[in-house]
Amino acid sequence: MGGETENTEAGAGLGTKPVLVGERVVLRPFTEADILAMGPILADPEVLRLTGSVHSTRDAESADPRLDAATRAWYEGLATRSDRLDLAVVDAAGGRCVGEVVLNDLDAENRSCNFRILLGPAGRNRGLGSEATALLLEHAFTNTALHRISLEVYDFNPRARRVYERAGFGLEGTARAALLFDGQFIDAHMLAILAADPRPGPAARS
Ligand SMILES: CC(C)(COP(=O)(O)OP(=O)(O)OC[C@H]1O[C@@H](n2cnc3c(N)ncnc32)[C@H](O)[C@@H]1OP(=O)(O)O)[C@@H](O)C(=O)NCCC(=O)NCCS
Repeated sequence: MGGETENTEAGAGLGTKPVLVGERVVLRPFTEADILAMGPILADPEVLRLTGSVHSTRDAESADPRLDAATRAWYEGLATRSDRLDLAVVDAAGGRCVGEVVLNDLDAENRSCNFRILLGPAGRNRGLGSEATALLLEHAFTNTALHRISLEVYDFNPRARRVYERAGFGLEGTARAALLFDGQFIDAHMLAILAADPRPGPAARS
């Protein structure tokens, strides 16, 4: 059988955990130190709000920065998962984990999955998210059987939308009033990219 069929049977190839090296970031399977670093990142109010994980500013600002035992065990188990790929986003300048990038919700028979990314304050607005997105897409469409990757981005997150569209994701529709935050309904935009779509990648930065 060809590699494509093997990939589909084994989860489209997501069971292989690569180290992806860029100029600004390294994407790698979580080390113990990376897992520890995720505690405050997951509790960051901006991350909680922009990922739709909470429904109020009050809840966004009161999360515990310590990882509980279940979450830590969940991260430790990611290395053996063949149905998803979760990589730590490591700042190449300094070597610290600043967030994570994920391919999940695999639909192996249709060779599609979901993409998501989150960076804590130390990693944002320096081009790391753009490069991490481009690196993971390149890996997904070169080394796995994936043909389609989709995501959702809330209307109050134009920065993320900018990063996704520049990476090559295109708008497919809008789920109106999909999130209730601080008493306001927020639209969720659905974006996707196919293997054959252009991937412009991060703009050159000085
Ligand atoms: C979204 C996220 C991954 C982007 O990564 P990043 O490293 O911060 O972004 P980059 O520095 O690579 O690029 C940001 C781009 O958005 C642009 N931008 C910033 N704020 C913007 C705004 N309010 N409106 C439009 N564009 C904006 C920047 O100018 C930059 O574009 P440029 O390179 O053309 O100048 C990161 O900020 C993050 O994780 N945020 C918190 C959680 C989150 O939003 N996750 C995504 C949920 S869908």
